[in-house]
Amino acid sequence: PAAQLIRIQDTVERRDTRVKVFGWVHRQRVQGKDMMFVVLRDGTGFLQCVMTDRLCHSFDALTLTLESAIAVYGVIREVPAGKTAPDGHELIVDYWQVVGKAPGGDDSFSNRVSEESDPSLLLQQRHLVLRGDRASSILKVRARVMRAFRDHFDGNGYFEVTPPCMVQTEVEGGSTLFEFDYYGEKAYLTQSSQLYLETCLPSMGAVYTLSESYRAEKSNTRRHLSEYTHCEAEIPFISFNDLLDTIEAMVKGVVKRVWEEPATRAMITQLNPEFKPYTEPFVRMRYEEAIKWLNDQGVKRAEDGLDFEFGDDIPEAPERKMTDAIGKPILLTHFPGPIKAFYMPATKEDPRVTESVDLLMPGVGEVVGGSMRIWDHDQLLAAFQRQGLNPDVYYWYLDQRKYGTCPHGGFGLGIERFIAWITNSRTVRDCCLYPRFVGRCQP
Ligand code: 4AD
Ligand code: MG
Repeated sequence: PAAQLIRIQDTVERRDTRVKVFGWVHRQRVQGKDMMFVVLRDGTGFLQCVMTDRLCHSFDALTLTLESAIAVYGVIREVPAGKTAPDGHELIVDYWQVVGKAPGGDDSFSNRVSEESDPSLLLQQRHLVLRGDRASSILKVRARVMRAFRDHFDGNGYFEVTPPCMVQTEVEGGSTLFEFDYYGEKAYLTQSSQLYLETCLPSMGAVYTLSESYRAEKSNTRRHLSEYTHCEAEIPFISFNDLLDTIEAMVKGVVKRVWEEPATRAMITQLNPEFKPYTEPFVRMRYEEAIKWLNDQGVKRAEDGLDFEFGDDIPEAPERKMTDAIGKPILLTHFPGPIKAFYMPATKEDPRVTESVDLLMPGVGEVVGGSMRIWDHDQLLAAFQRQGLNPDVYYWYLDQRKYGTCPHGGFGLGIERFIAWITNSRTVRDCCLYPRFVGRCQP
């Protein structure tokens, strides 16, 4: 009988019919002389295939290798009670073909990517590692999370924009800029699309983007990439408190969306059995209280072993220590101006600190950075001067303050750090397709 070509995710509805399925050999097992099991993978799911008698005696069957691409034909049957298979069914194969054979022996898939391989070797083989259970689940969760961000923003009246990545202005400090030659002019890879989002407010209202950002981070850490996916939003006519509420509602809203999809929830649970959506209010803490917390706990500055002082940057390790000890998401606010970006306004009550916020997540630390923006033209000009930035290249950003300025604020969230939090991954390098960091620009 004729067999219709279907994807594995659709096999559930096709029980007891004859189908054709393409896929890659994910696992294989020979049982006795006359039976062979192959778990086929096609990206949409896993399908157990049973080959018996002459189907497992052929040359192709005897030399079948992991990761070979094959076509299988047969009828989908529920597995007998007491046996397990993905989706509770298997394909009883009546005909099959090799489409693209993978090598065996020294060059076999399992020799190229073994669990014991050291991390740098696995990174070199990332294109093959992607086929593994963990890597592919993380990337699928990531796809659903990106969709959830879009759904969240679209459902809340934001417009999506796609700003350029080739720019001539810095946003987050000159030390992490990637510079390149742009037809004879100096240009950079963008560190953040924030400044462009701000220019969209008068025509589009609240806006967001999911774009790549670039940082020349010269140190090797588990949460810094040279290229990462940055989810940024900008909102007009809000207060600093509104901004904090917006960030909290977004994180909860996005998690709720992915958690409500059964397939995504199953993948998250497999990757991170402890994960539960967080419904209580996030902790809100001022920078100054964090400094006190670190000193009370006896956490010392790395440089000189002394107590932290007001004005110190809180580095990655103490930040994580604090977040893990508190064990809840923390909206850390009111950082001193000198350790933050040029565009952050001082508070009225205390000019030493700014209307700024970082969202810290257990296990990862900073996942979101945001603030209100200086919206007065002359104050912004003064900020450029303070930081030694040439205001001329920011003429368009200053115009924003000239033609109908308004109070506004926004934030940026690192998608890889968010995924690392949800999937309990040790490093953001596992949370993107092909990580870019110092010393690695391939595959
Ligand atoms: O805190 P950052 O530097 O803030 C900004 O870029 C603002 N202009 C965003 C805005 O207000 N629109 O970066 C925001 C977030 C961080 O909290 C972190 O999650 C992520 O971007 N991030 C990185 N992720 C991976 N690798 C890096 N090198 C990162 N640098 C920042
Ligand atoms: Mg930051």
